[in-house]
Amino acid sequence: MSVWTVLLAAGSGTRLAAAACGVKKQFFAVDGRPLYWRSLATLAKSPEVAGIVVVFPPADYATAEAQLNGLLAKHNPGIPVLTATGGQRRQDSVQNGLAALPREANRVLIHDAARPFVDTALIHRVVEALDNGHTAVIPVLPVTDTIKEIIDETVVKTLRRDALAAVQTPQGFDKALLLEAFAGVGEDFTVTDDASLVEYLGKPVHIVPGSPDNIKITHPEDLQLLMPQTPPATPVTGYGYDVHRYADPNHPGKQPPRPMKLGGFPIAGAPDVLAHSDGDVLLHALIDAVLGCVGGGDIGQLFPDTNPAFDNMASGVFLSETLTFAKENGLEITHVDMTLIAQIPKISPHTQAIRSNVAALLGLDKSQVNLKATTEEGLGFTGEKKGIKAVTLVTGWRHATAQ
Ligand code: CTP
Ligand code: MG
Repeated sequence: MSVWTVLLAAGSGTRLAAAACGVKKQFFAVDGRPLYWRSLATLAKSPEVAGIVVVFPPADYATAEAQLNGLLAKHNPGIPVLTATGGQRRQDSVQNGLAALPREANRVLIHDAARPFVDTALIHRVVEALDNGHTAVIPVLPVTDTIKEIIDETVVKTLRRDALAAVQTPQGFDKALLLEAFAGVGEDFTVTDDASLVEYLGKPVHIVPGSPDNIKITHPEDLQLLMPQTPPATPVTGYGYDVHRYADPNHPGKQPPRPMKLGGFPIAGAPDVLAHSDGDVLLHALIDAVLGCVGGGDIGQLFPDTNPAFDNMASGVFLSETLTFAKENGLEITHVDMTLIAQIPKISPHTQAIRSNVAALLGLDKSQVNLKATTEEGLGFTGEKKGIKAVTLVTGWRHATAQ
């Protein structure tokens, strides 16, 4: 018992042609391969399918066959793949495909190449029903809309929704029965699915559950379904705050004095700051804000000041490691706003240099990095010139990651 598939790719794709720039939908490139290849690959993966006949439009036959041969050479599907030329109507294409089947094919699936989301489970359900003795099998879905029969813009009948079903492909048949059905109906009998021919013969057509994903690409808006889906991103904000005490010869602190650096930029003539690392208050606040965006805790957890390895460490190194960690956690920084709060030194002569330096450290444009400075009007510890504060706000996107 050998199941072959006739894969229909011989239509003209009229309803979609304009949106697809004139390309017939079955040849529309998805991931660099024509659309019909998706169905072909899924069919080839299905253990029940012994071979495939792809039906191409006569006008495109030579180029389509050459393209198919190129694909088959690169990605061996492991089963024979033959070709046939299509006909005027869908059912003519089916007949041409049937004629190209090898003798050993005694059962056949007819599948629309315009349904690229067919899955192996659906193919299995159809073949299983054939195995169980049904000679014509179709996948169906319940109808959600109420369907009415209309004549001359007037409703003549409302159909019973629970007795209706939407029909998909692949449809499975005993090949002899399908050939008999074709022979039994005249040339004038035009159908939109193959099971109709069997129904016309008065033979039973069995149903199996279809798949809601198995959509037929028909209208321009359906092309959207073929575009790569970018994983969702969430807007995020992180806040950072840090303080460093100035060195005071009358009150030596626990930490050593360091020449002041702000945003990695040395501030000549400014008070020394007490710090285990290089004491860059601005970068420390920035690191905390970056960590805030990814739920990464704080700088002390990542770089504890009890660790001798971080003694006098350039804060730019901490920042760089933090950025790597944040990026691994999906962070894309789009903007940084920073404020320095100090009575001394005067920040404004250095603002642009600090801004440029921080932008370079973050790999951002200078326009995405802002720096403000203020005194606290002589109040508090900054007013007493005992230290300096920095607050920073980082905004960006948190992209979904594999973790
Ligand atoms: N088909 C075919 N031969 C035809 C007509 C249709 O092989 N003469 C195929 C199409 O390539 C498609 C499937 O039958 O895979 C379902 O048809 P449909 O979605 O109607 O595609 P088209 O006829 O190509 O599109 P349109 O009706 O918009 O012109
Ligand atoms: Mg059509």
